[in-house]
Amino acid sequence: MQIEEPTLEMGSDGLVALRVGPWWTHKHSYLRRYIDIFARGMKRKWQTRVFVDLYSGPGLLVERGSNREYEGSPLIAVGHPTGFTHYFFNDVDSRNAEALKQRLKRRGIANCRIYSLPAEQAALNIAADLRRLRFEAGDFVGLAFIDPVGSPHSMVSLTALTALTDGMRLDLLITFHTQSYKRMLGQAASRYRRGTLQVQDLEGICAIFGIDASEMAQFLEKRASTRFLLDLYQKTLQRLGYHFFESEEGIEPVIRNTVKAPLYHLIFASKHERGGEFWAKIKRGATPQGSFW
Ligand SMILES: C[S@@+](CC[C@H](N)C(=O)[O-])C[C@H]1O[C@@H](n2cnc3c(N)ncnc32)[C@H](O)[C@@H]1O
Repeated sequence: MQIEEPTLEMGSDGLVALRVGPWWTHKHSYLRRYIDIFARGMKRKWQTRVFVDLYSGPGLLVERGSNREYEGSPLIAVGHPTGFTHYFFNDVDSRNAEALKQRLKRRGIANCRIYSLPAEQAALNIAADLRRLRFEAGDFVGLAFIDPVGSPHSMVSLTALTALTDGMRLDLLITFHTQSYKRMLGQAASRYRRGTLQVQDLEGICAIFGIDASEMAQFLEKRASTRFLLDLYQKTLQRLGYHFFESEEGIEPVIRNTVKAPLYHLIFASKHERGGEFWAKIKRGATPQGSFW
């Protein structure tokens, strides 16, 4: 199954928007719920609360078929009255970054920084911004929303994620493109069996997990299951100090397309010991995907 990436079109406000499938609003129901619960719990305890969106898009989505318009993750974040105090956005496509800049300007949002860089580089710039902010304003809490497209080359590497989160109280909400990574590993496994696998075939996926090609090659002997990839990534995040992923309910939410084929999983990770509890609460209140079709 080919995974569709969002395309650009004009929104009703005259700025570019992402054209997306109807499953997108499901992903956003978790983000909205996180922000609500986060704001309730943190607004009195923490004066500075940051939102990092490494793959922000332009801020507006147009649903394929219905042509309905929805706010993208940046507008969801800035729209909460007590959610965050500082915003850091990035999108490699300068058309998206420019449209977002205009939308935020129209809403009078000033306490934000917008980059248009590969996420890999943006993570380093934002890491420096966060360190400066901590120096100026004191310690803070926040969320980094990591919402790449399906190609493993789009996903930020473990090295860059380490730079962004090291010593920071940043929760992570990650769109983990399980299907795409499985398909890519399946193709690599066929090449491996035929003896035609090149080290560069594994570069993108190895960078995500922070392992080298020879280590990854061991996994090609058996078929990489969804659970295997999710567990491997969880172990990877543990190396960054993230320990609290899941509640007793277990399973990460899976986002499916309109024919119910799984596309990706949402991974939540926190360094805080109540992170699992927090996520369980978020999951209970998020819209079940079944209600969309
Ligand atoms: C899934 S969309 C993000 C949507 C947005 N987070 C939202 O929920 O409204 C992914 C975005 O990442 C951007 N992108 C793709 N590869 C990237 C990269 N390597 N670095 C930064 N941005 C990238 C695309 O231009 C696209 O706008």
